[in-house]
Amino acid sequence: MKTIIKNGTVVTASDTYPADVLIVDEKIAMIGRDLPEAGCDEVIDATGLYVMPGGIDPHTHLDMPFGGTTTADDFFTGQRAAAFGGTTCHVDFALQTKGSSLKDAVNTWHEKANGNAVIDYGFHVAVTDPGDAMVKEIGTIMESGVSSIKVFQQYKGLFQVDDTTLFRAMKAAKKSGLLVMIHCENGDVTDEVTKALVAEGKLHPRYHLEAHPALIEREATARAIALAGVAGSKLYVVHMSCEESVMEMAYGRSIGLPVMGETCTQYMFKFEDDMKVDGYEGAKWACGPPVRKPKDAAYLWKSLADTTLQFVATDHCSFNYEGGKDGKKPGKELGKEGFHMIPNGIPGIEDRVPVMYHNGVNLGRISLNRFVAITSTNAAKALGMYPEKGTVAIGSDADIVLWDPKKEHTISAKTHHMNVDYNAYEGMKVTGWPVRTILRGKSIVVNGEWKQEKGAGKYMHRHQGMVV
Ligand code: URP
Ligand code: ZN
Ligand code: ZN
Repeated sequence: MKTIIKNGTVVTASDTYPADVLIVDEKIAMIGRDLPEAGCDEVIDATGLYVMPGGIDPHTHLDMPFGGTTTADDFFTGQRAAAFGGTTCHVDFALQTKGSSLKDAVNTWHEKANGNAVIDYGFHVAVTDPGDAMVKEIGTIMESGVSSIKVFQQYKGLFQVDDTTLFRAMKAAKKSGLLVMIHCENGDVTDEVTKALVAEGKLHPRYHLEAHPALIEREATARAIALAGVAGSKLYVVHMSCEESVMEMAYGRSIGLPVMGETCTQYMFKFEDDMKVDGYEGAKWACGPPVRKPKDAAYLWKSLADTTLQFVATDHCSFNYEGGKDGKKPGKELGKEGFHMIPNGIPGIEDRVPVMYHNGVNLGRISLNRFVAITSTNAAKALGMYPEKGTVAIGSDADIVLWDPKKEHTISAKTHHMNVDYNAYEGMKVTGWPVRTILRGKSIVVNGEWKQEKGAGKYMHRHQGMVV
């Protein structure tokens, strides 16, 4: 099958130039001016459109048991929504359960994705059961196509690991070339403060903020960077939310440590005040680390632009606001009796790319090429999927988004494709929209029309990544 994309403007993390792109089967075969159409099965006119690599979301939670329920989007609904928003690949967290192996976690996640996947995907393994077996397994998990593990300094009694475990995991990861990803918040402090707040009857969603102050994110970030520095391992700090922790990242990078940082779309648009409203509405924005202040959002934008931060993910972790009825899985309503029982997470897998384009590129916060870097290329590089994914280059997978920089769209839960009853960007008017999403040469969304077969998404057997 030969497809040619004519008259578009190719945009990568480094270049913007007019060119035609020839796709043969699943790969990009040629890029050049005035490529011939002869012999092509399909000719796509991309006049006025950007030809960009499909978005890569490095941090998602599909079909994940958490917070007394399971996330609302499974692999089909979540990935389908991602494709509508211009994302062609994501890496989801396979959660180890107590008493089982890392490999078991990967197998469980394969079962969730098999037959449902509609875009390409990989797995990080979230290490929750420390011990010698875990350290030994870190040495072999790359054989399963997993080149990154996640550890938690938060969620005491559930996922949190102590510093000994963390350090041992980092050393084992270093030995086998794995990337260590980490949730940086001091879980001991959150646990203590939460218990005290609950004992005082402070149960409103706003108290979630008091249990997750920026200082404990900063402390945990500094500690993780220091331990990684001593262990010599690569480190990727997930969902960084505030100026304080990003300053620690800047310090780590300034002394040459192989450390990288991710923020998430919601931290630029949702704030503490959104959680402080009367009633229960604030529960929608309960996540860890929590949403912060507008001045933090400004710092995150600046840090994405100046390369202190390298990735924008979604941490897509969807829970219905009014779940547990009308066929919906239980969700945020589980925390009505107390903020400590709100399932933590915010949806956004569909919105990330357009939201970042409009608010980043159109509003002059980041360049077009930086936008591609932070929404696609850097994730492919760091997570061991480059150059198959994350760029428009000869030999790469033809994962391409045709982007209309003039097309307007208003984001709403009424029209989104995520299986969740609210949207973090409700009413946001964006200019710039994916008019065609192509996965390995196949057009899977065309002008809002779904074209993909269930089960056609492919597992990415990832290799060792690099520091970006
Ligand atoms: O609140 C969040 N972030 N939920 C997802 C789990 C995690 O820690 O990433
Ligand atoms: Zn986390
Ligand atoms: Zn997460």
